[in-house]
Amino acid sequence: MIENNRILLDSEEVYSRLTREGVGCPLFYAESIDSTNDWAKREAAKGAVDGSVYLADFQSAGKGRRGRVWKSPEGTSISMSILLRPEIPADRISMLTLIMGLSAAQGMKTATGLDVGIKWPNDVVSRGRKLCGILTEANASVEYVVIGIGINCNMEAFPEEIQTTATSLKLETGEAVSREEVTAEIVKAFYRNYREFCKTCTIAGEVKAAYEELLVNRNRQVRVLDPKGEYTGISEGINELGELLVKREDTGKQEAVYSGEVSVRGIYGYV
Ligand code: BTN
Repeated sequence: MIENNRILLDSEEVYSRLTREGVGCPLFYAESIDSTNDWAKREAAKGAVDGSVYLADFQSAGKGRRGRVWKSPEGTSISMSILLRPEIPADRISMLTLIMGLSAAQGMKTATGLDVGIKWPNDVVSRGRKLCGILTEANASVEYVVIGIGINCNMEAFPEEIQTTATSLKLETGEAVSREEVTAEIVKAFYRNYREFCKTCTIAGEVKAAYEELLVNRNRQVRVLDPKGEYTGISEGINELGELLVKREDTGKQEAVYSGEVSVRGIYGYV
């Protein structure tokens, strides 16, 4: 649909792509909204059901991690939040961000054929640059969780401050991608992985194998920026809690790195 010279996201196409594959989640669309995460949280407070998806063409007050602003230009990006009412322990909620990271990577790969990877814990990257951002929020009593994702689809350029760290599917593939197909493939992958995750509240079996297959840090030298003391090591994969396993160079011991505590950098750059 073209409106004011702007190609809007076709939410009906997203919905029909999902239902065709048996994914029947409630899908809500706004041409413009403050933040899809805030929208989903407002609806959750009013009783919206588990699994609802909130999708927008444009966000006027998109939120990033650590209080940062997330800019999602109209017509070229995807802003989406999934509302869940999971019956899982509170200390497992952060693992849903990894599940979304994996699903985003799989969805982008299926829709575009691009050979994307995951930089632990949840950055989807191509040539070392970020294709999306994920922000997971829960209310105090964890009655609901909102997982928001912003995907760089058809941007042709980025602001100077993120030019060297961000990229888009269009820049990577050399052609415009269907935002509807990318959205539907990510949602499909998410529900498939989430269903598996809920069986054990761990990242195990095929989900873990798929994650490790896409993990760009695997068997690479990484620097762990642990506030208790930085160290270098080789990352060897993840455990069932989604922690990165790093074999330290100094002690030869394997550490399980928890994403809430530390950040991990490649030795020669971002990944
Ligand atoms: C990051 O800082 O990398 C996380 C960015 C998350 C952005 C998405 S866009 C959809 C959802 N709504 C928001 O306000 N933020 C998330």
